[in-house]
Amino acid sequence: MAANVSVAIIGLGFVGLPLACLFSRKGYRIIGIDIDSDKTEQLLNKKSYLSDIEDQEIAEMVDSGRFTVTSDFRAVEGVNCIIICVPTPLHNREPDLSYITSVAKSIAPHLQPQQLIVLESSTYPGTTEQLVKPLVENSLLKVGENLFLGYSPERIDPGNKTISIEDIPKVVSGVTKECLKKVEQLYGSVFKRVVPVSSPGVAEFTKMLENSQRLINISFINEVNFLAKKLNINLWAVIEAAKTKPMGFTAYYPGVGIGGHCIPVDPFFLSWVGMREGVPLTMIQSAGLINEIMPHFIVSQVVQQLSKLQVQSDSAKIGVIGLTYKKDVNDIRESAALKVIELMANKQMLVSVYDPVYQGVIPHGVERFVLAPDSLAKFDVTLILVDHSNIPWDVVIQHSKCVIDTRNVTGHSEAKHIIHI
Ligand SMILES: NC(=O)c1ccc[n+]([C@@H]2O[C@H](COP(=O)([O-])OP(=O)(O)OC[C@H]3O[C@@H](n4cnc5c(N)ncnc54)[C@H](O)[C@@H]3O)[C@@H](O)[C@H]2O)c1
Repeated sequence: MAANVSVAIIGLGFVGLPLACLFSRKGYRIIGIDIDSDKTEQLLNKKSYLSDIEDQEIAEMVDSGRFTVTSDFRAVEGVNCIIICVPTPLHNREPDLSYITSVAKSIAPHLQPQQLIVLESSTYPGTTEQLVKPLVENSLLKVGENLFLGYSPERIDPGNKTISIEDIPKVVSGVTKECLKKVEQLYGSVFKRVVPVSSPGVAEFTKMLENSQRLINISFINEVNFLAKKLNINLWAVIEAAKTKPMGFTAYYPGVGIGGHCIPVDPFFLSWVGMREGVPLTMIQSAGLINEIMPHFIVSQVVQQLSKLQVQSDSAKIGVIGLTYKKDVNDIRESAALKVIELMANKQMLVSVYDPVYQGVIPHGVERFVLAPDSLAKFDVTLILVDHSNIPWDVVIQHSKCVIDTRNVTGHSEAKHIIHI
């Protein structure tokens, strides 16, 4: 299928760029469209801005002559398929679908008969049929007749090197049977397994369900950890024991709280729909609340340790390891670590950060430190927030005065100056 088929991918971020790479690897001609000129320039200069994608891969795509990048929506005129991967944030706790609306309006004047449009942005049930469909149809183009529209949620797991994008089963849907057939054909040619569902609503709800369950599970384990701390029981040891049960228990681990563009957002899309429909989703709401408490809990643990060490909070030196929302990803969006450093900065603590994966600017005017024995020795507390791979944890343990470990990376050590959270 790939040889003569061209695909426009709109939004070249954490979802769109890996997808563009996958389609390109399978031989499709790709046109990437993004309004961020910094990103388009980097790609044209054969540079990747994602930690999961090497410059080499972008260089090969550009050099092949089958990957072009633009911010001009006229480019969709010549393609067979259009995939939309733009952000869907929350604003004032309400879903913001303005990026999807904007893209649908931008492509509408350039659409051609027989084109297939697939929305991949995470969104609540009803978006594809009620928002996108009316925006892309006109008197000459009708979905199901001469224009095809579907929804396929993105399940990529940035930073996860154990499973490649094409191995993740792809849920696909279409507004009509003919639409579904086209979506299945396209994705079936690049993903190892496609999972057709009966409507875009089912596919949209699937994504919301997956991420809501994850939010609730992470928040639950964090809440239980408050109690474990109180009882002086190491929850990590409890989880290790519990997960030996061959059925019915899934291990989730405590941490500083959820982050990224999905888990702190998608469940609240669903909860917003629930409120709209008079069906409050109270589990999601409580899980959200626990997540808001988490950074305060972590900082309270730091304050408690400083007090034991007889160090004043307002002059304490804190070395934070890890800023991103999870390990091995250069993404700090909604990262709970940001809230932790903000709370500590508000208490006048002198905070420095080490994050080998995230190279961007650190908010709140916080400086970086180099991970070395002498810099670690200067901190009153070394606070581990993210368990990035390839950090020499033994050096951290050996040279820190006091370690507070929220990710159990020092679990193997019985050193007395380590506090496991
Ligand atoms: N990041 C993830 O791990 C992940 C996983 C699954 C699903 N999703 C969902 O995928 C969608 C995209 O997320 P992301 O993480 O890739 O976001 P992102 O911010 O990394 O990328 C979005 C890209 O869209 C571009 N963009 C914004 N408006 C545009 C417009 N009008 N025209 C063209 N380009 C435009 C931005 O410049 C940006 O490059 C969201 O709905 C998100 O919830 C994300």
